[in-house]
Amino acid sequence: MVPEPPISGPPSSEPPPPENPIHRFSELPTECDSLTLIAAPEDRPGADFADDVRAGLSACPKRLPCLYFYDERGSRLFERICELPEYYLTRAERSILEAHADELAALLAGPVDLVDLGSGNSGKTRLVIEALLRCQGRLRFIPVDISSSMLRESSLALVETYAGLEVLAVAGEYQAGLDYLDAEGGPPRLVLWLGSNVGNFTPPEAVGFLRRLGGAMRPGDALLIGIDLRKEPAVLVAAYDDAAGVTAQFNLNLLARINRELGGGFDLDAFAHEARWNDAEGRMEMHLRSLRGQSVEIADIGLRVSFAEGETIHTESSCKYSLEGIQELAAASGFAISRQWLDGGSRFSLSLMARGGASG
Ligand code: TRP
Repeated sequence: MVPEPPISGPPSSEPPPPENPIHRFSELPTECDSLTLIAAPEDRPGADFADDVRAGLSACPKRLPCLYFYDERGSRLFERICELPEYYLTRAERSILEAHADELAALLAGPVDLVDLGSGNSGKTRLVIEALLRCQGRLRFIPVDISSSMLRESSLALVETYAGLEVLAVAGEYQAGLDYLDAEGGPPRLVLWLGSNVGNFTPPEAVGFLRRLGGAMRPGDALLIGIDLRKEPAVLVAAYDDAAGVTAQFNLNLLARINRELGGGFDLDAFAHEARWNDAEGRMEMHLRSLRGQSVEIADIGLRVSFAEGETIHTESSCKYSLEGIQELAAASGFAISRQWLDGGSRFSLSLMARGGASG
């Protein structure tokens, strides 16, 4: 009998493996071997900003989402905010890292990759990078930031400074970081979420985000989260309304950005920055107050918006937590706090967390 020829057959009918979202990222040229820069796909470039501006300025009360603060100019202004005498958050967080970064590195079970959500200029992160390099010799650092110009600049500075450091910079929103954490294998990860950025979510949103983050973490991964603590309202108000007016420029940059990118006609002198403590919600609120009755056209999205005198646009909230509040946040998000540090003035907290608290 003649043996049947082997059947090379049609390709197997198994469903294709689910698409790895990280493969949709595009790689940007960097001219540097130890730096890879990738950008999250923009499905409809510029459309999100237009849609969010239309929705926010048509709502009552009016609002604008805070992620749009961080264009190139906004990211620079935020760097200046971090150096203001009134804005104690950055210095307090840095002082904790200066005192405890080595202890933190020693608490980790073994070598890690370091992920940084919203890394900005990576200033404070350097303290963690240095501690991990002392411990493990080599390190892969994965900063995620919405401002790709800031990301490129700070990543290049890092690889130039530290031998033994490899940087995979991810330009995109937090979601890009979650996609990365979901998709990539490799050693356990230490995820940094510093700057009290969790406070820019409402507490229920924060729980939702932390649960998603926890879902993207593997056993053995750890989260280091920086959270600003409740304190005297006068200290808080000053931190968000500095004497030099940098925070005012930062807030007003949102309107300037609408003028630049969407053909807006905002008169920046007709709006004022306002920082308020909302005691019932335990948060600082940033608003832009219309100094007169006015109507503003935003040509590229065909929108005309009317403002009454004194009417405000709510541009950001920054929730402040008590230590019990941080416990509750962790527990509700399925995390357990393994170590917590405060700065000398007990103004700011850093908490090391692992998955596995009561997931409530
Ligand atoms: N995450 C920072 C915070 O909540 C952001 C911030 C600092 C900010 N200063 C601001 C946002 C002023 C708007 C206005 O502290």
